[in-house]
Parts: sequence; structure tokens; C-alpha cells
Amino acid sequence: MSATLPFPLITAEDAAALIPNGALIGFSGFTPAGAAKVVPRALAARAKALHAAGTPFKIRLLTGASTGAAIDEELSQADAISWRCPYQSSKHLRDQINAQEVQFVDMHISNVPQNLAYGFFGEMEYAVIEATDVTRDGRVYLPTSIGMTPSLLRYAKKIIIEINRFHSPRVSEMSDIVLLPPPPDRDPIPIHTAMSRIGVPYASVDPKKIVGIIEHSEPDDVMGFEAPSASHRRIAEFVVEFLVNEMRAGRVPREFLPLQSGVGNVANAVLAGLGESPDIPPFEMYTEVFQEACVDLMEKGLMTGASTTGITVSPQSLQHIYENLDFFIPRIILRPMELSNHPGVIRRLGLITMNTALEIDIFGHANSTHVMGTQMMNGIGGSGDFTRNAYLSIYLCQSINKGGRISGIVPMCSHVDHNEHSVQVVVTDQGLADLRGLGANERATTIIEKCAHPMYRDYLHRYLETATMGHLRHDLSRCFEMHQRFMATGSMQE
Ligand code: COA
Repeated sequence: MSATLPFPLITAEDAAALIPNGALIGFSGFTPAGAAKVVPRALAARAKALHAAGTPFKIRLLTGASTGAAIDEELSQADAISWRCPYQSSKHLRDQINAQEVQFVDMHISNVPQNLAYGFFGEMEYAVIEATDVTRDGRVYLPTSIGMTPSLLRYAKKIIIEINRFHSPRVSEMSDIVLLPPPPDRDPIPIHTAMSRIGVPYASVDPKKIVGIIEHSEPDDVMGFEAPSASHRRIAEFVVEFLVNEMRAGRVPREFLPLQSGVGNVANAVLAGLGESPDIPPFEMYTEVFQEACVDLMEKGLMTGASTTGITVSPQSLQHIYENLDFFIPRIILRPMELSNHPGVIRRLGLITMNTALEIDIFGHANSTHVMGTQMMNGIGGSGDFTRNAYLSIYLCQSINKGGRISGIVPMCSHVDHNEHSVQVVVTDQGLADLRGLGANERATTIIEKCAHPMYRDYLHRYLETATMGHLRHDLSRCFEMHQRFMATGSMQE
């Protein structure tokens, strides 16, 4: 027993030794924030030793979203993952997924907890959870992310807890946790504003399921964001100008609407750009990741509150938050991902959503996940939860990538995550296409004219003009010509 904790203290190696080959295992974490750390690392070492002795060992791995390096990167390097769900951003795991060495289930984030609850993935043997504290009666206080941890604690058969002393114990004061009952007995979710609190600041577990506790003090290994490029800044300027005009026209109320912003460099730059505009009023966020740019916006009073499921900021910014918790606690709510991404709540609050695509086609379909239609990048994450249910859905994309060899605007997306029925506004560093109320051909000419890079514009116009007449004009023999040219020559250019 620990001096302070009412459960047996074990080592990470003891914990790793409990995990059976082939089992479905859950790890806490939404991004590296709040991700289990020492047990997955020990599990990777155990897998390597077992493989060296000729013994097979792989797990089926479920988390909230992407994770810290100790989970996806180290376990995939150890060849210890057979199945992965619902999102990842690890270089090594991505390669294994694309080589069919790991089966990957790419899912809308909001659906994952109930899929676990109803047994769609099978039974979960163990969950390994990072926490700041756990009480004798089974209250588990969580650190920088909630993600699907409350569901893992409820539905896994056995629980291992990593108590991470690096985190401020006060961070859990941001938590607002409630688990939805099973259908058909669900009441309306009483989240009426981005900052509505409806739950308790801890997750619950049957204490009999806890097999051991490991203590450590390792920070979340969040990577820093790149400084915004000129192209990112141009995208941000177009978004800001558009939203200011929407407000002036009365299509966005003067008090503004809650914002959601996706992950990545482009989205982070747009958030920073919104904060720099004197014409955008202070706003709230209802989003899944509280990212780097949010810290500064909040301190300057430009962002008045944020509902999220994870705080994914650099170690320096997290330290800063911990030193100023009296300021940040009333302004940040950490919810389970089933609620941070809940379609009904998103629709009710009227979110302006901003997500990033790898490519967008001339009719407004967006590909967020598969390079050249085949190679998984990260996954759909929460982008579909937000896009489909937004008041105003905005898609961001670079007009060109890889020095111009790849166009962000293509005749037909090589994979579709978000379709023309949900994507309302497309923005690249070339301009902004407002697609609302436009017919198919009007959408196409607007996207080509406003968003395509000049080096691809003529080709796209010609494609459209010579395509088969129909509601959506396409030439099925040529719609992937740009992709095929890239694969043959290394460039989409003629
Ligand atoms: N083909 C090939 N590579 C492409 C590409 C394309 N059409 N478009 C972008 N890329 C490459 C970039 O060149 C860059 O490569 P690098 O890392 O070698 O420099 C990389 O993809 C990332 O692109 P970047 O422009 O820096 O964008 P980003 O960091 O904003 O990431 C996504 C873009 C689409 C990968 C990322 O937003 C994502 O995974 N989205 C899906 C999940 C999601 O939206 N979640 C949020 C919901 S809340």
C-alpha cells in the first residue's frame, strides 16, 4: 500500500506483466495530454523481450485520440499492436497501418465511448489510466484530458492507475464528468452554453477492479507548434475577414458564436489570427482540443471560456497554466469526449467550426485523412462530429503542398471524409469560397477561382468545362488525372 493511496503500489513492469496477448487494452489520453506513460513503455519493453524469445505478443489498442510517444510510437516500434482505434498521429504506427500490419478503425470521436459500452469492440481486459488522485471509494481525479477515460474506468474489467505527480492536483477542478445512460433512456443533455457545467469533477470506478497503482512525475510530451508560415497567416486573414463580414451582415450574432478549431499548424495559426483582429469580439470555444494559441487568447481576455476534452499545450504553457490556476480553472471545462464532440450539443450551441483538409475537390468534398486516396495520415478525429453539425462549417487547406507538386484543390477527392452537403466554406492561402446557397457548378467555379493556386487553376477550369454534363460535372476517366500524374512523375503539374 502507498502511504497516501488505498491501493497496492506496483511497478510499471508488474503492471505490464499482467496484460495478456491479444487483449483489448484501453489507455487514457487525448493527444499526449493525460496519456498513460510508464506502463505502455514497460509493455513495449516486455513485448520486445517476448518477441526475442519467439513468443507472440500484440494488443488491441483503444484510446481517446492520438497519444504520447510512450503509447503509439513505442508500442508500434515494439511491434506490439495488432488493432488500433480511433485516431493516431505516430509516424511508425502510420507506416504499419499503411502496410496492413496493424488494422486501423478510423472513427468519429463522439461515437467511440458508446461503441465500447455496447460491446462493439469486444470486452476490454485492462485499462491503464493516468490520474492525479484516487480515493478508497473509487473517485478518480483526472489530469489534462478526460477523453474516454470515464468509459474505460466503467467498462474495462481491470484497472491500473498511473498517479502522475507532475500534474497539479488542482487541474481536476476543471473536470465536468458525466456518463450518458444507454438509449433509449437518454434525457436531453443540459448543456445550454459552452460553459454549462452538468457533472462532477471526478470519474468513478468500482474500487474492486483496481489491481495496482504506479506513481511517477512525467510531463505530457506535447510537441510545440510551428511558427505560422506566410501561407498559414493568409488563411487566417481570409477567415477573420469573412467572420467579421458575417457579423456585420447579421448572419453571426454580435456576441459571436462558440468556435471549434481542429488540430494542426493551420488551425493553430487561424486561432491566433482571430485573436489579433480588433473586430472579432471576445469569444468562447466548444472544441475537443485546447491548443497552444488558446493560452494567450485567454489571458488577453479575447477568449472568455473554453469547453474541451484535452489541454494540448507545450510543457512551458502547461507550467504557466499550473502557476495561474485561479485564473484558468473558471475559464476551462474538461468534458468526456462523448460530450465535447456531441452532435446534438454542437447543433444546439450553433458552432462555427474550422477544420483542416489535405485536399478539397471542386464541388466541396474534403479529404482529411488519406494521402492520394490510400495512405492514412492521422484519422478523421472529431472533424466529422463538428463539421456535420456546425452552424457554419469552414474548411482550411493549403492551395499547394510540397513546393507546388501537390494541389490542395483537385477535381475529385481521392477519399471523402466530409461531403458537399456539410462543407459550407473553403479557405486556402489564395482566398475564400463561400459555398452557401450555390448550385453544383457555381460551387466548382467559385472554389477554382477563389481557392486553387494559379498554377493549377487553368487545368481545373478546363477539366470542368470538358467534363460530362450533369448535376455534378465529372469525367470519370480523368477525375484522378492529377493524382495519377503525381504518382507517375512526383508532381501533379502538367
Ligand atoms: N498530399 C500530401 N501531403 C499533404 C497534403 C496532400 N494533399 N496536404 C498536406 N500534406 C502534408 C503537408 O505537406 C505536411 O507535411 P510535412 O509534415 O511533411 O510538412 C503535412 O501534410 C501536414 O500539413 P500542414 O499543412 O502542416 O497541416 P496540419 O498540420 O494543419 O495538418 C491534417 C493537416 C489534415 C493532417 C490534420 O489537420 C488532420 O489530421 N486532420 C484530421 C483530424 C482532424 O481534423 N481533427 C480535428 C477535429 S477537432
